[in-house]
Amino acid sequence: MTSSDLREKFLEFFEKRRHVRVPSSSLLPDDPSVLLTTAGMQQFKPYYTGKADPMASPHPELGGNPLGAKSAVSIQKTFRTSDIDEVGDETHLTFFEMMGNFSFGGYFKEEAIKLAYSFIKDIGLDIQYVTIFEGDPSTGSGQVTPKDEESKKIWEGLGVSDIREADRGDNFWGPTGNEGPCGPTTEIYLNGIEVWNIVFNEYYCLADKSLVPLEEKGGVRGVDTGMGLERLAMVSQGKENIFETDLFSPLIDLLPEHMDMSTKRVIADHARGISFLISDGVIPSNKEAGYVLRRLLRRMLVYEHISENSFDSIKLLEKVVEDYKDFYKELNIETVKNEFTKEKEKFQKSVARGLRELEKAESIDAKSAFRLYESFGLPYEIIKELGEEKAANLSREEFDKEFEKHRETSRAGQEKKFGGHGLILDTGELKAANEEELKIVTRLHTATHLLQAALRKVLGDKVHQSGSDITAERLRFDFNFDRKLTDEERQKVEDSVNYAVERNFDMGFEELPYEEAIKTGALYFEKEKYPPTVKVYTAQDKKTEEVFSKELCGGPHVTHTGEVGHFRITKVESVGAGIRRIRATVE
Ligand code: SER
Repeated sequence: MTSSDLREKFLEFFEKRRHVRVPSSSLLPDDPSVLLTTAGMQQFKPYYTGKADPMASPHPELGGNPLGAKSAVSIQKTFRTSDIDEVGDETHLTFFEMMGNFSFGGYFKEEAIKLAYSFIKDIGLDIQYVTIFEGDPSTGSGQVTPKDEESKKIWEGLGVSDIREADRGDNFWGPTGNEGPCGPTTEIYLNGIEVWNIVFNEYYCLADKSLVPLEEKGGVRGVDTGMGLERLAMVSQGKENIFETDLFSPLIDLLPEHMDMSTKRVIADHARGISFLISDGVIPSNKEAGYVLRRLLRRMLVYEHISENSFDSIKLLEKVVEDYKDFYKELNIETVKNEFTKEKEKFQKSVARGLRELEKAESIDAKSAFRLYESFGLPYEIIKELGEEKAANLSREEFDKEFEKHRETSRAGQEKKFGGHGLILDTGELKAANEEELKIVTRLHTATHLLQAALRKVLGDKVHQSGSDITAERLRFDFNFDRKLTDEERQKVEDSVNYAVERNFDMGFEELPYEEAIKTGALYFEKEKYPPTVKVYTAQDKKTEEVFSKELCGGPHVTHTGEVGHFRITKVESVGAGIRRIRATVE
């Protein structure tokens, strides 16, 4: 079956069985504890933990659907940086597509296993064997997690005879980030390959790694399954490895025949990663997601360079977009090409020099490798690969240590600049140094949205944000207005924000293509360049549909405006022609 048939077949199969089809969320998650989306369940995390109700969810497909609100099906764009060094062998990828069905407090083990069993049959494949969790006498803080006898019985009932037991390392999944839902898994193997991971989320893993039943934490137990489309395609198409499937072969075909296979795989993998990351709004930089993207771009560019342009990276990117855009409408070739070209220009200025340095060097340790990265932009992977014996003793771990050291130093500089802020979160607008600060700046960030809405209610619709800066102490909001605010106006604005806080509006978001988002009447920041798919955050009363504020924004935000706390304007001043500045705090 072609990959695109497999995608449709999977979605249809579950849709027919009371699941709601939910589009993939962005690779940039709305969860500050993780860098990129690594699992299909990530966008649904609040439904397991009870932080959000799928019936009143920011997923319009789920809300109000009496059949499906408790179960969903999706194909999620996923990116795992942990595998980046392994790419090039037969199985590892950075970007991949994860098919999954989910239950939030609805069906549990029996239905999940039966559904998986019939889907595999439906596409004409046979289960070779399955694994179940063997239990763990010493989970977390001395707790015992029992063996999953129930799943074993269900599989036996279906006539599956090869049931193997596996330990916590293999058959217990989660959480994503520091804490969250997790649980034992049962896995399905086809032709010796693990294809489908079925997680029974029944615990909440706390930051200290101890487990509490999800229901005790106010959540619901549920099911989270994940099946890599690439692996399923490989088995379904009878191929030796994922790179021979129709997901990769058209890309590999664009590469010169004489190139070694491992390089071809890296390039094909990176071409997909680059196209999807850029289309989700990531731009190359030296930190976080931007750094991941830069590594992919530079590695591809180095290969282009050392193979003396025997292939054209742009053609590969175009092919990715062409092949995937029917399903992932957000793919945007113009943006992808634009970012790629900009990075290429930078690369040409320095990387070629870096390669010459690398050639000249006698041996390369972590320090000199980091210098090559820092001064010339040479990625670790390239130094390791092209340095050959010279870099034999260089390890990723040592290199990362150097990287960290450098970050510490530049952090110290940044701290000065931001008066002690700008560390774990620094979007330019929001700055937080630790988890505690992150909570405060998130509240202040939501307050900023409420403030803009309040200003427009009191002073008129011409008012528009012209800048914003948030630290753990206060928010600062600039807007266009050409006279001083009266005391009465200032009071009205403050009251209006506090009205929204007291109403405890739902602060949900919806992801939409940029053009459509603008049409909803959501406010946006004219100076900013937005990605093709954007989030629209709305503060509203779900019952009466009263909308208080609607803005394009990347987040993060609180889930209900009540969490913002009492809002107080501390200062209103003029900062130049026609621009006023408000400083405010939350209590
Ligand atoms: N969350 C599980 C995984 O990522 C199943 O979807 O493997």
